[in-house]
Amino acid sequence: MNTSVVTIDGPSGAGKGTVARNIAYELDFHLLDSGAIYRILGLAAIEQGIAFDDFGGLAALANSLELSFPYDKKHTDILLDGVPLGQKLRNQVVADAASKVAVNPSVRKALMDLQRRQAIEPGLVGDGRDLGTIVFPNADLKIFLDASVEVRAERRYLELIDSGQIVERSAILRDLEIRDIRDRTREVAPLVPAHDAYVIDSSEKTVAEVVMEVRGLCKAKCLV
Ligand code: DC
Repeated sequence: MNTSVVTIDGPSGAGKGTVARNIAYELDFHLLDSGAIYRILGLAAIEQGIAFDDFGGLAALANSLELSFPYDKKHTDILLDGVPLGQKLRNQVVADAASKVAVNPSVRKALMDLQRRQAIEPGLVGDGRDLGTIVFPNADLKIFLDASVEVRAERRYLELIDSGQIVERSAILRDLEIRDIRDRTREVAPLVPAHDAYVIDSSEKTVAEVVMEVRGLCKAKCLV
C-alpha cells in the first residue's frame, strides 16, 4: 500500500519549510525536514573533526547517527540521540557544512532509507532538494518552490536577525549564491525541479498565498 506523499523542493530561503509545516498541519500528515538531517550530519562532522572530503568517514558517520522523528504536530524537531538540536542547526556555518556533506554520494545513499521510512500513515509532507526527483519519485504531489536569490537572502537575513544572530546582508547573499551553485551542480541528486513538479515562484507572494496555492493543488489531488 502506498502512503500519500507531498514533496516541496527548492533552494534555500524559498519558504519550503514554512509551507511544508502549514500543509502537514492542515492535512494532518507527518513532516520531514530533510535539510535538518543534512545539517545534523554537517554539525556532527565539525564536532568530530571529520573533513568534508573524507567521504568514507562521513558515510560511516551518516550510518551511525541515531535520529528520531517525534510524530507530534507541535514538535517538528528531529532528535539526535534523543536530544532536539533546534537553533543549533540554524546558522550559516552549519548550513554550509550541510551543503558540503550533501555532495557525497555515499552519504546520500545512507540517508535515503532513513527518509523513505518516514513515509507512514496517514501521509508525509517533506521538504528538501531531491525529494521529488530521487527520494520519493512517485509522490502524489510535487512542488518546486523558487524565489529570486535577493528575496531569499533578505528572508534568511531577517530570520537570522530575528533569532538573535549578528549577520551581514551581503555575507548572507554571498553564502546563498555559493550554496545554490553547489546544490544545483553537484553530480548526485542536484537541485532541479522534477519533470512532474508544479513550479511556484514565491518572490512576490506571501506565505499565506503560497499555502493557499499548495492547498488547492492538494485538493485537486484528493489529498484533502
Ligand atoms: O534546506 P536546508 O537549507 O536546511 O538544507 C541545508 C543543506 O542540506 C542544503 O544546502 C543542501 C542539503 N540538502 C540536500 O542536499 N538534500 C536535501 N533533500 C535537503 C538538504
